[in-house]
Amino acid sequence: MKLDGVSLASLARKYGTPLYVYSAKTVRTRYARLIRAINRSDSLICYALKANSNKALGRVLSGLGAGADIVSGGELDRALAAGFKPERIVFSGVGKTQEEMRAALKRKILAFHVESGEELTALETVARRLNVRAPFSIRVNPDVKADTHHHITTGMSENKFGVESAEAAALYERALRSKWLEPIGIQCHLGSQIVDPAPYGKALDHLLRIVDRLSKKGARFRYVDVGGGIGIPYASGKKMAVDRFAATIRKRLENRPLTLLLEPGRWLVGPAGVLVTETLYRKKTSSRRFVVVDAGMNDLLRPALYDAEHTITSVTPRRGKKERFDLVGPVCETADRFVKGLMMPLPRPGDLLAIGEAGAYGFSMSSTYNSRPRPAEVLIDAAKAKLVRRRQRLSDLTRDER
Ligand code: LLP
Repeated sequence: MKLDGVSLASLARKYGTPLYVYSAKTVRTRYARLIRAINRSDSLICYALKANSNKALGRVLSGLGAGADIVSGGELDRALAAGFKPERIVFSGVGKTQEEMRAALKRKILAFHVESGEELTALETVARRLNVRAPFSIRVNPDVKADTHHHITTGMSENKFGVESAEAAALYERALRSKWLEPIGIQCHLGSQIVDPAPYGKALDHLLRIVDRLSKKGARFRYVDVGGGIGIPYASGKKMAVDRFAATIRKRLENRPLTLLLEPGRWLVGPAGVLVTETLYRKKTSSRRFVVVDAGMNDLLRPALYDAEHTITSVTPRRGKKERFDLVGPVCETADRFVKGLMMPLPRPGDLLAIGEAGAYGFSMSSTYNSRPRPAEVLIDAAKAKLVRRRQRLSDLTRDER
């Protein structure tokens, strides 16, 4: 099995397993595809860095002109190091510290996406101390239900994210009277892995009503941001029809002098990555068969945390009758299972498997649980593979302990 002309088996031999492998070409193609679908000159794609914050991958997107959506001081550092322009960076999250605000204000980012009245007060304080105006948007919670896993839905009143519309309007009015705050946009984010465009339409209508109301009071909005969340196909194949998604948004913005911001993470990088893992052992109980591989939930948490079903492909050609088994990792947790009841020819020890759709929320959510070093990452660009992060060494695991 090859990725952009490079044999995954040869990469596994060279760099070991588990191994993340990404395709720069896929990221470029998907970025271009999204731009084409949106078909609006006045738009900006702010890549949600949390999906995969490897600098080499970030460089691919910044090189295409993308901005970044960050959620911490650490991501600000990474975004700048990956070449994202400060004037294309937006800062999200319910718990920005004043230190993080200060760092971002000094770098003159595009905007803060503010999620509470108290956060707005903190931002005003930091701006006053630095003697600058802080550009911001309120993240509005539109109370729209997007059908996705309950761990990754964000746009409803029971979620901790955003500000309800009445309060958002009040915060904008307050900011209009402040010397240190500059309202420049409005934002929402409904959740992640959404496959139906309709909730985006509802949410955007909601935002535009607030824009119209506040414009009468003197607010000058420059952009509207409908967040990220565009769904990709995993094993079930369900995905967002991206042209319908784009049309839903575009028709609502016709004749409005507003820049459209989007914050996709998964859609851009998810399908661009695989996690290559080696088969260790097979075993059987009276009720099930298991195949144990060398990747675990510490390397790819999504199946354990969200019951996510990633596609599994055999890298080592293996024919024969299909058998049913659970694909599990070595971590001492029952939840350390990639697929329950997978049907394919039984892998043998030493066989390599590729876990698909691993470019987003794979490495970025990895940990060293069970004192397992984090995997290496390889980026393939122009048919050349480059190690963009070395595998952690055992000594890295204890390095910071005193
Ligand atoms: N913008 C904001 C404000 C967000 O909170 C997120 C994701 C995004 C954009 C990007 O969403 P995307 O386009 O990637 O769906 N770890 C979970 C996903 C958590 C998403 C958190 N916020 C997973 O593996 O499914």
